[in-house]
Amino acid sequence: MTELKNDRYLRALLREPVDMTPVWMMRQAGRYLPEYKATRAQAGDFMSLCRNADLACEVTLQPLRRYDLDAAILFSDILTIPDAMGLGLSFGAGEGPKFARTIQTKADVDNLPIPDPEGELQYVMNAVRTIRRELKGEVPLIGFSGSPWTLATYMVEGGSSKAFTKIKKMLYSEPKVLNALLNKLADSVTLYLNAQIKAGAQSVMIFDTWGGVLAHHDYPQFSLQYMHKIVDGLIRENEGRKVPVTLFTKGGGLWLEAIADTGCDAVGLDWTVDIANARARVGHKVALQGNMDPSVLYAPAERIEQEVSDILAGFGNGSGHVFNLGHGIHQDVPEESPKIFVDAIHRLSQHYHEK
Ligand code: CP3
Repeated sequence: MTELKNDRYLRALLREPVDMTPVWMMRQAGRYLPEYKATRAQAGDFMSLCRNADLACEVTLQPLRRYDLDAAILFSDILTIPDAMGLGLSFGAGEGPKFARTIQTKADVDNLPIPDPEGELQYVMNAVRTIRRELKGEVPLIGFSGSPWTLATYMVEGGSSKAFTKIKKMLYSEPKVLNALLNKLADSVTLYLNAQIKAGAQSVMIFDTWGGVLAHHDYPQFSLQYMHKIVDGLIRENEGRKVPVTLFTKGGGLWLEAIADTGCDAVGLDWTVDIANARARVGHKVALQGNMDPSVLYAPAERIEQEVSDILAGFGNGSGHVFNLGHGIHQDVPEESPKIFVDAIHRLSQHYHEK
């Protein structure tokens, strides 16, 4: 395997010294780039793009050609697991994800298979292998999955949701059925992430996009417990290097201590959290990733640079911070904004890392 030319993302996640703060952007491959839209049109639809290793590799690399990013993220989706379980995923034009079949009863849960990562999900592992080869050691590759709770919301609701009434009804009326589903998902995610690591992912991230809709006393039981189980089952070292694990719960600011206690290496923060406060609470245990509001990328250059500067100052001196957006980049941000953002982080962070 080629030596990594730029490992500051991996080093920052392990709180090892770096020369400047590394940065990548959630959803950095996507529709805000015209070249992404062109490649997707070539593939047909979104899932065909995910299933084609060469095209998935191409869109993974597109943002790296434009911006000085410190990591690549696998081009895929969190909904590949429920799709591989047989629920029939589709993305209608201009719409969110939809499942042909949903999970409602204990029998539905009992009938769900645990997908074989080198079987039904082999296309994801092929994309990982292809991307890793084509990256040629420039920057590390991030693998990812959804959290069991977040995947379950899509499987029970049948797609995106605002009020989460079906899954909350299950939570309060049939908690055992939901726990059985979450256990099956935790096992599936562990196998899936370990296969991504074996295929070449150099760090992994779990997206718990909907953990923040849970009541404060339900989050540990219905989301965090299962992410903890996954962290316990992951391969933590490969190719002679640590494989850092990042947990990101959107709206998870209430639970940072509990998230950090799972044994993960880093905690992702959304923009509702003050990063100085987060560091004081959990910075002795984990690295932090985040946390600029993605909407700041609509602002003029000076305002973007000011926000970057404030977040860097909030974290303060030393390693342990991976700069990112607090959630995915919006589709309609000006093409030049990410460059202003990324370059400002590299330029303004150097004096926080002087020996
Ligand atoms: O650079 C990258 O991050 C690309 C890889 C990636 C995608 N989805 C591609 C994608 C990643 C890491 C995801 C994660 C994902 N998918 C999450 C967790 C992160 C988050 O945003 O909270 C979630 C909740 C999903 C589920 C999902 N996938 C939804 C709700 C949608 C439709 C909404 C939308 O943004 O269009 C998708 C589709 C999707 N996944 C697209 C991309 C680039 C857009 C599809 C298209 O090209 O039309």
